[in-house]
Amino acid sequence: MSEPLRVVVLISGSGSNLQTLIDGQQAGRLPIDIRAVVSNRADAYGLERARAAGIPTHVLSHRGYADRAHYDADLAALVDEFQPGLVVLAGFMRILTPAFVARYSGRLINIHPSLLPAYRGLRTHERVLADGCGEHGCSVHFVIPELDAGPVIVQARVPVEPNDTPESLHQKVQVQEHRAYPLAVRWIAEGRACLDNGEVRFQRVPDGRPPVIDADTDIDAL
Ligand code: GRF
Repeated sequence: MSEPLRVVVLISGSGSNLQTLIDGQQAGRLPIDIRAVVSNRADAYGLERARAAGIPTHVLSHRGYADRAHYDADLAALVDEFQPGLVVLAGFMRILTPAFVARYSGRLINIHPSLLPAYRGLRTHERVLADGCGEHGCSVHFVIPELDAGPVIVQARVPVEPNDTPESLHQKVQVQEHRAYPLAVRWIAEGRACLDNGEVRFQRVPDGRPPVIDADTDIDAL
């Protein structure tokens, strides 16, 4: 057996996606070792989730920093202490500098609440509803300097129904986030998805391209 993939998770808030990775690690479903959880906010609930799991936590507040470059340099120095093979953005509400992104190229992933390339940026649920879309979802992608634009590893879709609100959509999308993110992390940890020349190279993934899962998909079979 090879060593589990060393992971650092960056958060700013609830950390429900972090929890799915913790659960997957603890249950033996994910061959990962979450070495640390880092938050830019001391009040992020995800820090409690990490502590409850016995994972070291660190708070690096962005307050008091003159600019992003200095913050990101200190963030990188902190992350590097744990020598991660993968850095997971799980609701980390900061735009990262190109230098930070370049440092972790191919080792930095994010989950975004839309079916990219549609609806980059914030308030995706509100915008999907305002446009009358019939479908919404989330995307796990490798991070590149351009915001919410990196190559997609997996997407999950949910139907938009007439009585949906931003909150109901948020909840439906999060249910699928909690399936899609562990799946993408497992593929990377198993060496089945990697960034190669700006594209995701898949091995033993159906059709060799980013799948779109939904509520009925048996993700354990993927
Ligand atoms: C998720 O909805 C994700 O799409 C976005 O930030 C949110 C994080 O939620 N990037 P949580 O902190 O994992 O609950």
